[in-house]
Amino acid sequence: MSTTMQELRAREFARLDESGHVYLDYTGGGLYGTSQIQAHADLLTREVLGNPHSRNPTSLASTHNVEAARERIRRFFKADPDEYEVIFTLNASGALKLVGESYPFQPGSRYVLTADNHNSVNGIREFARARGATVEYLPLNKELRVENFEALLPEADPALPSLFAYPAQSNFSGVKHPLEWVEQARARGYDVLLDAAAFVPTSRLDLSAVRPDFVTISFYKMFGFPTGVGALLMRREAMARLHRPWFAGGTVRFVSAQNQEHLFALSGEAFEDGTVNYLSIAAVPLGLDFLDRVGMERINRHVAVLTEQLLAGLHGLRHSGGQPLVRVYGPQAATGRGGTVAFNLVDPDGQVIDYRLVEERAIEANISFRTGCFCNPGAAEFAFEYAAVEAYKCFTSLRPEEFTLQQFSSCMHNQPVGAIRVSLGIASSETDIHRLLDLLRTFADCHALPRSPRDIPDIVGG
Ligand SMILES: Cc1ncc(COP(=O)(O)O)c(C=O)c1O
Repeated sequence: MSTTMQELRAREFARLDESGHVYLDYTGGGLYGTSQIQAHADLLTREVLGNPHSRNPTSLASTHNVEAARERIRRFFKADPDEYEVIFTLNASGALKLVGESYPFQPGSRYVLTADNHNSVNGIREFARARGATVEYLPLNKELRVENFEALLPEADPALPSLFAYPAQSNFSGVKHPLEWVEQARARGYDVLLDAAAFVPTSRLDLSAVRPDFVTISFYKMFGFPTGVGALLMRREAMARLHRPWFAGGTVRFVSAQNQEHLFALSGEAFEDGTVNYLSIAAVPLGLDFLDRVGMERINRHVAVLTEQLLAGLHGLRHSGGQPLVRVYGPQAATGRGGTVAFNLVDPDGQVIDYRLVEERAIEANISFRTGCFCNPGAAEFAFEYAAVEAYKCFTSLRPEEFTLQQFSSCMHNQPVGAIRVSLGIASSETDIHRLLDLLRTFADCHALPRSPRDIPDIVGG
């Protein structure tokens, strides 16, 4: 850890060391710096802020803050104001749902997505299906990457709207999927939805260089605070093709009850239902300022160096007979990936050790990481090498009202149903990694207990 990053941790994230926490869930949620919160508290105590939907002075003050936040977001991502709208949502999932419910899927059009995707991107397939579009997943290789992308992506009918969706960075494996896909998919007739939620906390996204039609983010993942605010960055040209399925307060210029007519706002506000979270939105520029002060390139390098150390440390953990203690899913090396690493511990015979046992010891050691399949079932299916036919048989053999993950796992001959995910971020340190490795080392020479089906937690998605 460089001196400056060490100083940053001491200055802005002192609460980590004061409370002895090892925080390793940055893909779940980022951490805010103390100065961000002080700056937000100063703003709230200085200004008088009203509901932004009118023209009184306190309303105008809120409108000013919301518009300033849109501007700051565009500047941060180098998004041309003539090209991109910034629409405030609750989170990345809210932004994804806006696209899904408004996209003009129809018979003959396609929804193509990578198997590696968060459930909030998977869920768009239900809108696509309901409107008669074809849904197709691109498979993953052993490294949980898509091989031969251009050969796999089917040509879309240029006369019909088709959508291709993928994550800039996987929330399961940390894989960074190529940003070049944006133009390649557009050349094949697709609108492109880039889910950047797991990418932007540690990597610079430059929308003057790559121009997806839709970009989805959650700000708490970037800089910890505020929660409850995300954004959809949308090209105006693509926005014109969307059809909102309803209207709400704040989204319209005119509504008639008498004639049952309505006219949407011409700007992105047509997608912001009701009153936006104007007090929290005022904290977004402060978070972006914070990241800019530290420097995205520095954060990126810091996380890359630590990820290399983490991977080396995990690969170095062995049982006394020399067998590996850790099975990493996805890329084994630090290139072409971010700081998210999914793995399971395995016993000397190669049997997976139940991740809940590891989690129990981690809780005792005040270490926070994520377990389960992280709302990314497609990546999990490829990581755990499920045979689709067998998984389908097991899924359909259970009545929906009786389905539990325990029964599914036992039907799948006790294949893993989850993993451990460690993710690094702005305030991570070598000490965090050492404390994790020390914990994992305590499992050397342990044998995986035969699992009773009743023992497996019933969590769906994770
Ligand atoms: C890649 C990716 N997409 C979407 C989401 C959903 O974000 P949110 O829960 O903030 O809506 C996440 C959350 O982990 C994510 O990692």
